[in-house]
Amino acid sequence: MSRIEPWWRTAAVYQVYIRSFKDGDGDGTGDIAGLRSRLPYLGDLGVDALWINPWYVSPLLDGGYDVADYRDIDPRFGSVQSATEFIAEAKRHGIKVLVDLVPNHTSWDHQWFQAALAAGPGSPERDRYHFLPGSGPGGAEPPNDWRAVFGGSAWRRVPDGEWYLHLFDISQPDLNWEHPEVRLEFEDILRFWLDRGAAGFRVDVAHSLVKAPGYPDTGDKANEDRLLTAEGESQHPFWDRPGIHAIVRGWRSVLDGYPDVMMVAEAWVANQDRLAAYLRPDEYHQAFDFEFLEAAWGAESMRSAIEESLASTRPVNSIPTWVLSNHDVIRHATRYGLPQGVDAKQWLLDGDRSLLDSALGNRRARAAALLLMALPGSMYVYQGEELGLPEATELPLDVLDDPTWVRSNHTVKGRDGCRVPIPWTIDGLSAGFGSGPSWLPQPDGWSAMSVEAQAGVEESMLELYRAGLALRKEVFVGDLALEWIPSPADAIEFRRGSGVRCVVNLGTEPLSVNGEVLLASEPLADGSLPGNAAVWLR
Ligand code: NOJ
Repeated sequence: MSRIEPWWRTAAVYQVYIRSFKDGDGDGTGDIAGLRSRLPYLGDLGVDALWINPWYVSPLLDGGYDVADYRDIDPRFGSVQSATEFIAEAKRHGIKVLVDLVPNHTSWDHQWFQAALAAGPGSPERDRYHFLPGSGPGGAEPPNDWRAVFGGSAWRRVPDGEWYLHLFDISQPDLNWEHPEVRLEFEDILRFWLDRGAAGFRVDVAHSLVKAPGYPDTGDKANEDRLLTAEGESQHPFWDRPGIHAIVRGWRSVLDGYPDVMMVAEAWVANQDRLAAYLRPDEYHQAFDFEFLEAAWGAESMRSAIEESLASTRPVNSIPTWVLSNHDVIRHATRYGLPQGVDAKQWLLDGDRSLLDSALGNRRARAAALLLMALPGSMYVYQGEELGLPEATELPLDVLDDPTWVRSNHTVKGRDGCRVPIPWTIDGLSAGFGSGPSWLPQPDGWSAMSVEAQAGVEESMLELYRAGLALRKEVFVGDLALEWIPSPADAIEFRRGSGVRCVVNLGTEPLSVNGEVLLASEPLADGSLPGNAAVWLR
């Protein structure tokens, strides 16, 4: 029996990294005007909603995750007025808009942080952040051993001698969520965007926010960000602390005052059961399933990631949110083209480039797209994956913008390679992204993967996504049941409530299948599904 689900439980959401989507004013940076001009494209693609990466006023020292004003749009992207008009216009195209909420930290340009610096030690202004005296003689050492995610100590000293906490870049001071003003401020920010038509929020670093009292050292757990006791309670001093959930409930009660809105958590926690805690009925509506994203190409790893996610969300009456790529990870068309066991991040820094089989990565990306679309739940498409864009692995070092590159002392390449501007046309200086060069250069040959080059070409990635998203609405979102079908070791197969089956051949030998082919990532020969391919069958 099919039933009407709230939209977000089955939505196909498209992630817009606004700096790199479409430049409307020729300054080399994507913006709201550019995005607006591509609403027809997004409508044709068949997505239900967009998640826009931060578009707020920001020095852009971490791509906008360093927010200086949560209630204003950076002039490089537009204005609150153009954002509000854009949200309304998207709605006319049948597309909802999710905005990004960044509650763990502000930018150092935020007026609260500027006021805290000016007011000095012991002031109420400093209480909104984590300011502490240093340790060691003269307080010259950081207060404790916490490490920042991008590298180096998580503390930085200010001229009057105190230190402030920044779990990410030095430009991103962590807010003190024990402070009542911080809580009220964010509830008000939620209302601000909901009142302007936003359909909800993607919440940044949802597993952070709360810090252990007394700021204990992490000791030998320094880099263990997923540490748990046997009871499943986080023992880590700043990740996944139990106090987070009360904050989330406060946000949920704000959202519950608006019709049809949702929030999705970006939470990198120890396991699926920990994630499910964020999905209880009075907390998040959804949380990205990173275990699926991280699963190695293989029947065993992918099936178990799917099974675990379905099993852990069931008791809280939630449903998984599937994703293959985003602006923080190496694009999956590249990841899937590397041999098993190669650490993609390390490879990106200094690995042997001849290890990459791009054609294989592309072929697997096609199959993965059909798997993603066939699963029960919601799914996210990261801009450019519908074009099969690979990671830009050879960006010149002097254009790298991700703070990770500098903070890690050049030991981690960073995330610029998945943030390169979208190629729209075959000709043009930045393949139609803008009228001139783009803020990050596109690699040679990208115009061959442009929207213009792929539109109407039946075997293109773009047409596979278009056909898949359209068919998904017909055959996969009406009923959320999934039944596993026994399959050979290298394959996975399941039947959805409509009776349509999805078969993925993750091995190399052809697999014989039967039924009417609705959509396939590669042509079938004599009823055989080739290796590294997927098919939907009735
Ligand atoms: C997660 C975001 O996705 C990432 O891009 C950002 O650098 C960190 N959070 C810090 O805000």
